[in-house]
Amino acid sequence: MNHTLESLQVKEAQTTYPVHPLIRERWSARSFSGEPIAESDVKTLLEAASWAFSSMNAQPWEYIYAHRSDSEAFQNLWSCLLPGNQPWSDKAAVLMVSLMRKKFDNGRTNHSALHDLGAANATLMLQATSMGIYGHLMGGFDRAKATELLGLNPEEVEPVVFIALGYLDDPGQLSEPFRSREVAPRSRKGVEEFSARLR
Ligand SMILES: Cc1cc2nc3c(=O)[nH]c(=O)nc-3n(C[C@H](O)[C@H](O)[C@H](O)COP(=O)(O)O)c2cc1C
Repeated sequence: MNHTLESLQVKEAQTTYPVHPLIRERWSARSFSGEPIAESDVKTLLEAASWAFSSMNAQPWEYIYAHRSDSEAFQNLWSCLLPGNQPWSDKAAVLMVSLMRKKFDNGRTNHSALHDLGAANATLMLQATSMGIYGHLMGGFDRAKATELLGLNPEEVEPVVFIALGYLDDPGQLSEPFRSREVAPRSRKGVEEFSARLR
């Protein structure tokens, strides 16, 4: 991991109230080293995702992924990404698509599916952070292309977000504007801006 200490400090969340280090240290990286992630570690990430909460415990998530070494499969997934995501994600160790199953087993619409997939993705990302693996979610992909590539029935399953996963490399390897984004400080709305206490 060559990221300079300085740039990592910039990325760490500067919080007003104390939060767990895993939350502080997760951020959406783009500069991946190309170093592979062991398949057993990918399974650990998916296991973590599986322990997210979900409405009726329906677990409406699915993941389809390829290691960079699975060249053709990786290239196929990568080709679904929009131009703003392609230049940096090609050095990810693993590309994943996270998908939501839109219906419960009884055929009724699961209105919580998107929520629950997000919960699973967040759980996966925090597990990744604990393992020194960085990730970047990408909603910028060609949905029709991914649906066709993966042979999905759009009535049942919808690809929601791609995830690039890998180990960090120096931001200097990135071209602009990605290099600047990689070293830009992160910011958030303050807690008081999005929450209210009722008395
Ligand atoms: C559903 C979703 C879609 C996203 N799509 C993209 C994307 O297509 N390209 C990109 O560079 N970042 C994308 N992001 C990353 C966000 O821009 C990033 O999470 C946000 O700016 C906060 O930064 P942080 O994750 O480093 O805290 C996406 C994030 C989410 C949750």
